Amino acid sequence: MAALRTLALLALTCVSSSQTSDCSYSVLLEHFNLTETNALLEMARPVKNWTASTLVQLDMLVYGILKVDEKSQTVTAHIWLSIRWTNEFLTWNPSDFCGIDSLSIPRSKVWIPDISIQEDASDTGTVQKSPFVTVSPSGTMNVEARQRLTYTCQFNLNLFPFDTQNCNITYWSMSGNARSIMLGTVNNKTTLSFISERIMITQGEWKLKSLDISQEIVPYDGEHESKLIYMVSFERKPMLYVINLIFPLFYLLVLDLASFFINEARGEKLSFKVTVLLSISLLLLILQDMLPSTEENLPMIAIYFITVFALVGLSVLEVMLVSFLVDLESQCSEEARSSEDVRVDVQLEAEPSAEAAGVEEKGPVKPEKSYRPSDRPGDRDLLKLILDEVKAARQGAGKPDRDKGKSRCYRKLAYTIDIVYFVFYFLTVVIFGWIMYVKWIKQVILFSG
Ligand SMILES: *[C@@H]1O[C@H](CO)[C@@H](O)[C@H](O)[C@H]1NC(C)=O
Ligand SMILES: *[C@@H]1O[C@H](CO)[C@@H](O)[C@H](O)[C@H]1NC(C)=O
Repeated sequence: MAALRTLALLALTCVSSSQTSDCSYSVLLEHFNLTETNALLEMARPVKNWTASTLVQLDMLVYGILKVDEKSQTVTAHIWLSIRWTNEFLTWNPSDFCGIDSLSIPRSKVWIPDISIQEDASDTGTVQKSPFVTVSPSGTMNVEARQRLTYTCQFNLNLFPFDTQNCNITYWSMSGNARSIMLGTVNNKTTLSFISERIMITQGEWKLKSLDISQEIVPYDGEHESKLIYMVSFERKPMLYVINLIFPLFYLLVLDLASFFINEARGEKLSFKVTVLLSISLLLLILQDMLPSTEENLPMIAIYFITVFALVGLSVLEVMLVSFLVDLESQCSEEARSSEDVRVDVQLEAEPSAEAAGVEEKGPVKPEKSYRPSDRPGDRDLLKLILDEVKAARQGAGKPDRDKGKSRCYRKLAYTIDIVYFVFYFLTVVIFGWIMYVKWIKQVILFSG
């Protein structure tokens, strides 16, 4: 009997040793019936009591900001996703299975929560999922995925290019409600943003500022839905825009102001101002390529651009007005000159007998021709010739003084307009600069500080 017992014990140890000698994963897989199709594991949420909810923990890392499209209001980022939940049926004692403490099984063999992103605007094929689910002895399942995620975001471009964008990435379960699936995270936001910054591979003109997490339960279609919101905030590096847009525009404005000191040669001044205006419209075109046209509150930079454009445009108009007045003056002086001629001619025609006296008055101008008048016709021709000469002399010397007095008013008006406009322009630029500072730069300092 004792011998029989020993034999039985020996056989048992033999069997068990032969069993444990196979230390591959297959034993464990067979233990869970995973080598064949195990529909139970694939189909149902892995809980022993259906009223228990499954906590799905979802850690997201942002490791690249590829593109921020202001026009279409989308962000493209590289994200790394790690989803963790517990399968109550896949637990084992490692010491029974050669100490196996982790098992990889194909995704298709087990139930996986259907988590999706609300703001997702990506094309299909941008997700790269790990084909395996990793299971630990306690039944904790873990799947990893990386994704080039394009998601929509309502940008606030008011402070462009000194803006910081806060965009939400909302995770939710498409089929489950809050009773069956609860969403949460494994690590807290400090750890996640720290790791994100460490592994960041590309961020271009952006800088990841913070990663915030909020868990919400929102009513939806008579049920409650658990949502996990990642609030990713990133700020723009504005230097290129300052160098490319803001500074050149300011410089052009200063140039336009300074052009008041250009010589009164009006053609030159006008063409200079028009060139400045053209340069500004070029910058406006560049700006138009960057900003969306569907903007409720206009970005400060657009106000800045359009105001400078309007100021320079107005100053071109002012130069046109001044040059028109100057033109008026020269026309006026010509008219005055011709009316003077007519008067002299009339005088000549009307009083032929008085011509001699007129000549004698102008005697000092042409002294060699001042001899006594006579009634002979030949003398009369000669006198007429002399009168013509006198007329020419008067036009050359005496008349400009009188013209100046007459049409100086226009030049004076033009000059006054120029000065007044310059003062007005200068004051406007100063006030405008101050408003821009308060509404734009100060806000930026407040926000970042
Ligand atoms: C595996 O399947 C067999 C029958 O096919 C069943 O007796 C056993 O309980 C199953 N094991 C598990 C872990 O489901
Ligand atoms: C992001 O989510 C938070 C929390 O629900 C919310 O307060 C905020 O308004 C959201 N932001 C955007 C841009 O939707």
